[in-house]
Amino acid sequence: EKGGHPHYMLKEIYEQPRVLENTLGGRLHEEHANVELDLNLDPARYDRVHVIACGTAYYAGWVGKYLIESLARIPVEIDVASEYRYRDPVVDGRTLAVAISQSGETIDTLEALREAKRKGAGTLGVINAKGSSITREVDDTLYIHAGPEIGVASTKAYMAMLGAMAMLAVWLGRARGTLAEADAKEFLGELRKLPRLVEQALEQRAHVAHIAEKYHQAADYLFLGRHIQAPTAYEGALKLKEISYIHAEAYPAGEMKHGPIALIDERLPVVVLTTDSPFYEKTLSNIQEVRARGGRVIAVATEGDSEARRFAQDVIYVPRTHHLLAPVVSVVPLQLLAYETAVLLGRDVDQPRNLAKSVTVE
Ligand code: F6R
Repeated sequence: EKGGHPHYMLKEIYEQPRVLENTLGGRLHEEHANVELDLNLDPARYDRVHVIACGTAYYAGWVGKYLIESLARIPVEIDVASEYRYRDPVVDGRTLAVAISQSGETIDTLEALREAKRKGAGTLGVINAKGSSITREVDDTLYIHAGPEIGVASTKAYMAMLGAMAMLAVWLGRARGTLAEADAKEFLGELRKLPRLVEQALEQRAHVAHIAEKYHQAADYLFLGRHIQAPTAYEGALKLKEISYIHAEAYPAGEMKHGPIALIDERLPVVVLTTDSPFYEKTLSNIQEVRARGGRVIAVATEGDSEARRFAQDVIYVPRTHHLLAPVVSVVPLQLLAYETAVLLGRDVDQPRNLAKSVTVE
């Protein structure tokens, strides 16, 4: 049932191109310069978005914040659900609360959503599990269609959430008139290419396994990324710590010099997301800062980039895409890095200690 793979997690990592096709399938309509999401909510009605989620789903929501703010110019606040509930958030009828959850059963997310609803928000679930608790309480559900996810560490559901958030951004942007027709068409074209690009990203497995081998004895790992790749850094660190039990921390790249730079020495592997973007040069200078202090740099860069190689000990190349979609291809090598490291350390990859697939206690 693992399709010839030794673990569900690896099977699910390899399913990602097909999963993404399912998420996007039939919903991208370049001819109308829009997506068809079959939602009853009125996308023109909302002037702010509150994203509520936990763990990996929270990082998908954080990517979604950049997508929505860029394409739809609506302010997006994002909270981990357990914080949202208790901060007395400012909500009105023009607030769209978006709850993101693979299981649809996470109690913190459900309770936070109820709080937003009580205060008058429109509610949307971005959910994998059909008919789950959250889907029964929201005004509308955008199913991500990742199929059942067995591995406790979420991989393919994250990928599908990213696809769903990108479509949501287009939907809001078109309704509000902030996303021009030509730009929408171009962006939809880029979305359509993603499954194929994720397949290409998977081809880096042997190279990533080699890097994992080099560093699997490390006591700590640092992950850095800027702008829409900051959440990718956090997701990479989360994957690594939850299945390998290596301590891993993530920071927005520019924040490094405000403290964490003190950690850097020749024993610390630092994964830096430095894919093509308007902020590329800035992140490259962060790599130089790490190198100058003896740190070991593993760069995740766009294919064809020759600069990163000059400053990083190891470079993992990912296919070129729209810079707002770079998280989709970049998370793949980070999932593989976590997986290969955990296997080398003899960890129980599919059932990491102390974790449950669905967290229904507060
Ligand atoms: C990490 C992981 C958890 C979940 C979190 C939310 O790999 O699986 O962090 O993402 O518990 O779960 P859902 O999406 O079911 O609400």
